[in-house]
Amino acid sequence: MIYLDSAASYPLLPEVRTSLMHAFENTYANSASSHILGESALSKVDEVREDLADLIGAYPSEIIFTSGATESNNIAFKSLLLSKELAPTKKHIVISAIEHKCVFAICEYLKTIGFEISIVLPNSCGIIEAESVKKELREDTVLVSIMHVNNELGSVNPISEIGSLCFERGILFHSDAAQSFGKTPIDVDDMNVDIMSFSAHKIGGPKGIGAVYIRDLRKRDILPVIHGAGQEQGIRGGTVAAPLIIGFGTAISLFPEYYEDFSKKNIRSYLLNQLQELGVEFIVNSNENNLPHIVSLSLPKTNSSLLVRDNEQTFCLAQGSACSSKEIEASHVLTALGLSREEAEFTFRISFTNDITHENIDHLVLAIKKAAI
Ligand SMILES: Cc1ncc(COP(=O)(O)O)c(C=O)c1O
Repeated sequence: MIYLDSAASYPLLPEVRTSLMHAFENTYANSASSHILGESALSKVDEVREDLADLIGAYPSEIIFTSGATESNNIAFKSLLLSKELAPTKKHIVISAIEHKCVFAICEYLKTIGFEISIVLPNSCGIIEAESVKKELREDTVLVSIMHVNNELGSVNPISEIGSLCFERGILFHSDAAQSFGKTPIDVDDMNVDIMSFSAHKIGGPKGIGAVYIRDLRKRDILPVIHGAGQEQGIRGGTVAAPLIIGFGTAISLFPEYYEDFSKKNIRSYLLNQLQELGVEFIVNSNENNLPHIVSLSLPKTNSSLLVRDNEQTFCLAQGSACSSKEIEASHVLTALGLSREEAEFTFRISFTNDITHENIDHLVLAIKKAAI
């Protein structure tokens, strides 16, 4: 099977598997316990907290471990906006039309309790321009949330520019970095980000673990996302998942190198060149500057159902985003780019792992060619 869906979930790195097995066997104590094994678990968890903080230019005290980017996004919107520290008159939020579905679900909830949401459209390359965000800012804007890298297109948003706009106006700025973390540098100060979301399973770590960065967390009065026994600075109750965090830590330290090696293979350009050579008609729904592990490809002269049906035992491909691929409706990201439902149907998100080979791509290109209309 050739796995072309790493943006939905990246396979476990072999080193992560080893560290997980070791941690499940050995780091079983509760990190809140005061005996020697509990303290050892806590120090391992805090080591990962430090590594993550170091990588993004934050303090360890500003990192909370969560179950993944969905929960981190919930904390960014709900825990912060429903906290007592914010003025009750500030009820306007700005998001983009290409955010992950969970952001829309959270905003739908916030609308029911009086928040207003403005949605910024991307340009034709799938990028959210700072100017477009600026036009939506208001006196009562409390939060702007724009993802760093889009999960269907790989397009990279100008986070620093948008962050400065928010900083100048005293507006909280959140960015979902589920797709960018470990793949491109992040510095929360350079980017003027106040809150950022991360997920382990996008970088070869285990599912069910992620993190959220919250600037000056200790000075804030934030509503817990899970009321509990004081874990994670009282924001996220429940016994800390030490083994998963240790696995996440291994992915944090090793994934960037894997990604660098992958980037050197120029797989994306190879795919596009091979398609061109075989005379396959295609459109890439982003520009050259996107991250190289994702390519959104529209194939107007390819029978997409045939391509999927004939190759379901060979390739794992995504039509639309993973979370919505079983729905019949077109992906909201492609619709935001201006694609019709029909165009969205012949559009594929192809996302690579580090062990992809040029031969794998040759197979894919031949399969696409075979499904020509
Ligand atoms: C941009 C983005 N945000 C959030 C998520 C959700 O992440 P998780 O599965 O860690 O909750 C994903 C993954 O599907 C994503 O790509």
